[in-house]
Amino acid sequence: MRLKPSFRFSIYAALAVLLLTGAGWLVADRQKDLSSSEIWQQTAASLLMAHGGAAMVTLLLLGALIPVHVLRGWRNGNNLVSGSAMIALSTLLVVTAFGLYYLGSEAVRPWISWIHIIVGFALPAWLGLHIFLGRRRSR
Ligand code: HEM
Ligand code: HEM
Repeated sequence: MRLKPSFRFSIYAALAVLLLTGAGWLVADRQKDLSSSEIWQQTAASLLMAHGGAAMVTLLLLGALIPVHVLRGWRNGNNLVSGSAMIALSTLLVVTAFGLYYLGSEAVRPWISWIHIIVGFALPAWLGLHIFLGRRRSR
């Protein structure tokens, strides 16, 4: 179940960029309303662009993970509970990301945004737990 180090670090790097650009956007979006300077508006837009780019790479990595990791783990029954939660959280992120792009309704967008943000912060934390549990089991 161990991943090739280059693949594993690509996953960590993509998630780190998503987390930093997502958290940075939250700060810039807040500052933009408090300050009259244009700089926060521009920063927020650039961060969201970087976030979208990293999200595309992440989708590729998640797809590549299915045959070498997810299906194998599923067959062996190793780390099934925390792995299933990883899949559920990633799916929620992708579905809400789609919603952020395409569901314009003023009523639902804030909800989708909050779900995306909460799950976005939860995923890296859960990944840490998933790896800890998986490695403990395999030892
Ligand atoms: C989005 C889904 C998932 C992601 C991003 C993910 C990511 C990872 C990563 C990065 C590791 C550390 C690998 C290493 O140390 O080389 C790991 C370990 C592990 N994962 Fe997953 N995983 C996912 C889903 C699953 C599922 C569905 C299962 C099982 C059904 C699973 C089972 C395991 C096991 C058993 C380990 C421990 C491997 C070992 O150190 O021997 N994972 N996972
Ligand atoms: C597979 C993972 C992820 C995907 C596919 C994804 C994708 C997206 C997309 C497409 C958007 C909308 C961009 C736009 O409106 O131009 C977005 C917004 C956002 N994402 Fe993510 N993201 C992911 C993970 C994360 C993570 C880990 C965080 C961590 C905090 C996060 C935080 C945010 C924030 C704060 C926004 C702005 C919300 C808003 O516009 O109201 N995302 N994401």
